[in-house]
Amino acid sequence: MALPKPDFTPSSTGIIENVADVTPTVLRAMAATDNARLRTIAEALVRHVHAFAREVNLTEPEYEIGIDFLNRIGQATHDSHNEGVLFADAIGLSTLVCLMNNGDAGATETAAALLGPFWRANAPHSESGGSIVRSPTPGPELFVNCEVVDAVGSPIANVVVDVWQSSPIGLYENQDQTQADMNLRAKFITDSRGSFSFKSVKPAGYPVPTDGPVGDMLRAQKRHPYRPAHIHFLGYKQGFKTLITQVFVDDDEHLESDVVFGVTRALIGDFRRHDRGTPPAPGVTAPWYTLSYRFVMEVGEAILPKPPIK
Ligand code: BEZ
Ligand code: FE
Repeated sequence: MALPKPDFTPSSTGIIENVADVTPTVLRAMAATDNARLRTIAEALVRHVHAFAREVNLTEPEYEIGIDFLNRIGQATHDSHNEGVLFADAIGLSTLVCLMNNGDAGATETAAALLGPFWRANAPHSESGGSIVRSPTPGPELFVNCEVVDAVGSPIANVVVDVWQSSPIGLYENQDQTQADMNLRAKFITDSRGSFSFKSVKPAGYPVPTDGPVGDMLRAQKRHPYRPAHIHFLGYKQGFKTLITQVFVDDDEHLESDVVFGVTRALIGDFRRHDRGTPPAPGVTAPWYTLSYRFVMEVGEAILPKPPIK
């Protein structure tokens, strides 16, 4: 015989009486979380995930597909690939979090952009002016001059700036056996004028990896997988918020449809093509490109992100 329904407020017993009981019962179970920030985040997550399931009337087969999708993101992640970061990037979450946390909490333009899944922590140091090409790499030569300044435009010396880019065939060295280890990656230190420069090749746009669940998602949504050509920079110095950013090639066809929503106006670089004149170094043949870019670092805490790959 069924027990009579007790005269309690919904879910106060912990027994789920009906669908309306689930969310408050779960929230009550988490209420003893000591860490106030963790409690806020976990509660909001549960409220929003439950509201999402209600909004779309999630069916059991759809629920299974969703769990399988999450599991596949984990299974596709390993030392040299981070599908979790790729997923957050491809649904715009990385850019949203980046813009909320930089540029006066999203109020003003910022020099920051998403990290992406390809930063490696241990790129070798190079002298300013040196080349980051470590094995034969096709593509027009590129000469980059950078300046790092603070919010009032004063140069910042001794910033460690990590640089990384894909090769013009569209692969980072860790994705491509034919490139030398750390090809197109290096660390530079800004001089007393806040400057550093290096030689590279003009980057090309490339597709993000599509052999995992994120690729399935993009195909289902009829989205192309391309990122516009860019160079990544990470500036680090005590007393300043670590600057994670990218500078985009201004004539790229995918500038307005970056698969990971990373392009802001401030990050479109002036990649100048040179067909004649005196080359910037002996042996350089036309066309070559130059890029000058000024990075602004905000005062703050110098925290390095966890490298997405080894
Ligand atoms: C990248 O630019 O390295 C990147 C960013 C997001 C997803 C995939 C690649
Ligand atoms: Fe990239």
